[in-house]
Amino acid sequence: MIKKGIILAGGMGTRMSPLTKAVNKQLLPVYDKPLIYYPLSILMLAKIRDILIIVNKGQLNQFKKLIPNGKNFGVKISYAEQSKPKGLPDAFIIGEKFIGNNNVALILGDNFFYGQNLTGKLKDCAKLSKGAKVLLHSVSKPELYGVAKINSKNKIVKIKEKPKKFFSNYAITGLYFFDNKVVEFSKQLKPSSRNEIEIIDLLNKYKKSNNLHADFIGRGGAWLDTGSIDDFYKTASFVAAIENRQGLKIACVEEIAYLNNWISRKQIQNAIKFYGKCDYSKYLKKIASK
Ligand code: G1P
Repeated sequence: MIKKGIILAGGMGTRMSPLTKAVNKQLLPVYDKPLIYYPLSILMLAKIRDILIIVNKGQLNQFKKLIPNGKNFGVKISYAEQSKPKGLPDAFIIGEKFIGNNNVALILGDNFFYGQNLTGKLKDCAKLSKGAKVLLHSVSKPELYGVAKINSKNKIVKIKEKPKKFFSNYAITGLYFFDNKVVEFSKQLKPSSRNEIEIIDLLNKYKKSNNLHADFIGRGGAWLDTGSIDDFYKTASFVAAIENRQGLKIACVEEIAYLNNWISRKQIQNAIKFYGKCDYSKYLKKIASK
């Protein structure tokens, strides 16, 4: 069982400047809550309760204002700083101590997932004991992502980062599950031409030994992008549409913790005090009265 998870919330968010000049992208609102709540909720739905958030150097205070600790969410939150973006696998080098002898999940701080059966799938992925697992999702513009080609047995036969020439519609989403070898493998990686160590090179190390597995977010699921300002607002509209229709919130981390029996009503009350008078608190009140 994977019990540890890392949220990589570094990066300068250059594509979204000036919005990201003073505030980390992961703290910007996706409708009614900061972006970071969405990847955090995904780890929590996978029943991962020991979480390391990696942030840019100098941005720790911003994050701690919002998430001082995980008490109100029933999880343990630790923080680490990244001096400059060195590539996604750097998360495992920074997180070496945190990971220890365990297996680990990584989610990129700007990835949004939604869909029926997602929780079951996440719990299943967290059962990984050996190798690595990626979640694939069909997209219309695969050239923007890491891409995987699979054969008729759903085995990954080829992977490439942002391929110029089309070979598959399956994007590799920003949620990865790894065994403990990930730390050693990450340390062996050589920087690419853009001077970063690359997630594709890391995945290729697993692929070479036949240890890279694929699962899918099917057509009934959504994996949305928050890369550009336009995509960011499309994601916010998606959340608004679903939440207002259902009267249920996506990624309400306190609700997830409460339904998992990780926190009691008392902690929901604490969360309400922490947020103050707002619609989010009203929703929490409703949750606690059930
Ligand atoms: C990164 C990865 C890419 C992956 C994507 C998912 O790309 O390099 O393989 O498909 O995240 O969000 P980036 O968003 O850093 O361009």
